[in-house]
Amino acid sequence: MKGELLLLSGVTVLLQAVHGCPDKCRCHSPTNFVDCSQQGLAEIPSNLPPQTRTLHLQDNQIHQLPAFAFRSVPWLTTLNLSNNSLSNLAPQAFNGLQHLQVLNLTQNSLLFLESRLFHSLPQLRELDLSSNNISHLPTSLGKPWENLTIFAVQQNQLQQLDGALLESMPSVRLLFLKDNLWKCNCHLLGLKLWLEKFIYKGGITDGVICSSPDTWKGKDLLKIPHDLYQPCPPPAPAPAPGSSQTQQPSSAHGAVPRPPENHSSGERDPSECEFKPKPRPANLRHAIATIIVTGVVCGVLCLMMLAAAIYGCTYAAITAQYHGGCWAQTNEPGKTEGKELFDCSPA
Ligand SMILES: *[C@@H]1O[C@H](CO)[C@@H](O)[C@H](O)[C@H]1NC(C)=O
Ligand SMILES: *[C@@H]1O[C@H](CO)[C@@H](O)[C@H](O)[C@H]1NC(C)=O
Ligand SMILES: *[C@@H]1O[C@H](CO)[C@@H](O)[C@H](O)[C@H]1NC(C)=O
Ligand SMILES: *[C@@H]1O[C@H](CO)[C@@H](O)[C@H](O)[C@H]1NC(C)=O
Ligand SMILES: *[C@@H]1O[C@H](CO)[C@@H](O)[C@H](O)[C@H]1NC(C)=O
Ligand SMILES: *[C@@H]1O[C@H](CO)[C@@H](O)[C@H](O)[C@H]1NC(C)=O
Repeated sequence: MKGELLLLSGVTVLLQAVHGCPDKCRCHSPTNFVDCSQQGLAEIPSNLPPQTRTLHLQDNQIHQLPAFAFRSVPWLTTLNLSNNSLSNLAPQAFNGLQHLQVLNLTQNSLLFLESRLFHSLPQLRELDLSSNNISHLPTSLGKPWENLTIFAVQQNQLQQLDGALLESMPSVRLLFLKDNLWKCNCHLLGLKLWLEKFIYKGGITDGVICSSPDTWKGKDLLKIPHDLYQPCPPPAPAPAPGSSQTQQPSSAHGAVPRPPENHSSGERDPSECEFKPKPRPANLRHAIATIIVTGVVCGVLCLMMLAAAIYGCTYAAITAQYHGGCWAQTNEPGKTEGKELFDCSPA
């Protein structure tokens, strides 16, 4: 009996050790909430309770995440890593977090993100990447994030954002894009078109303010008229087989192609194409002028034809009346004018 008790208490102690709480954290078992914030941590604490659902790691000095960093807490739904020193995330850092819904990475030093990084987070609903130094986001994520509703990348160094990336977030409702280095050239047309649709469908965004070129500096991307956009030049033909499609010029309303890797011609850099208020409006004015001139010429011709017709009719009528009158007068002097005309006509 004593031995059994000892064994039981031993097991309990062991369980507590296994399911214990890391030194610098506070664990609230009923809600599976673990708070390790503001502890000066340089890395993810070991022996986190495996059933942890919410993990607060904000306000620490964690500077990197190894692959499978959260392997020990597979049930995590909310992960707060804001205000750390993260600059380097292993591409598989979040692997295994099948249930993660909220990921907060704001106020770190991230420079870029790989598409693989988020492949493992199918349930994500909120992703906050604001206040980092991100200058490049992946073009697409492969699989769509069906449930992502909040996507925040404000206060970064982004110059462009591919429409295709946003297409992979069909449920997004809140989009934070402000305070980046948006380069409002043809490569941002895809974003503009996407945002117009997004806002029309009730989405909310804090806006895209152009940072370059000088022509559009400080202007709202959504307020630059469509007329001033030109499609990007087609990407340089790839040496790979079946590259014939890439030769076709892309339409202004299609996906924006990526900037060419290289350009042999000695002209202006095609990837730098900026929509300038030059050719389109001139063409438009020309077209309008042509239409007006054509209209006037047609109108004048019509009037002339009408005049000719009226003249012809009147002449015919007068001639007929003259002849009829003579005929009527010589034959039946007592008839009325109408009758005379009627009688005249067959003559
Ligand atoms: C960020 O974390 C540090 C501690 O690492 C803290 O002193 C600072 O107040 C935090 N900043 C914000 C904006 O919360
Ligand atoms: C993350 O932590 C900050 C405090 O640093 C807090 O304001 C914010 O609400 C937290 N976000 C999440 C998703 O828990
Ligand atoms: C992330 O944390 C910051 C504070 O550090 C907070 O202001 C922000 O709302 C959080 N983002 C989300 C999506 O909860
Ligand atoms: C999106 O959310 C719904 C409802 O919570 C869930 O059933 C579905 O599995 C989620 N989608 C993905 C890809 O996880
Ligand atoms: C990130 O950007 C801020 C200002 O935008 C700058 O002060 C800081 O040095 C940058 N950090 C890195 C790691 O580039
Ligand atoms: C670009 O073209 C130049 C020659 O015009 C060549 O030297 C260079 O290697 C090319 N760069 C790439 C990335 O193909």
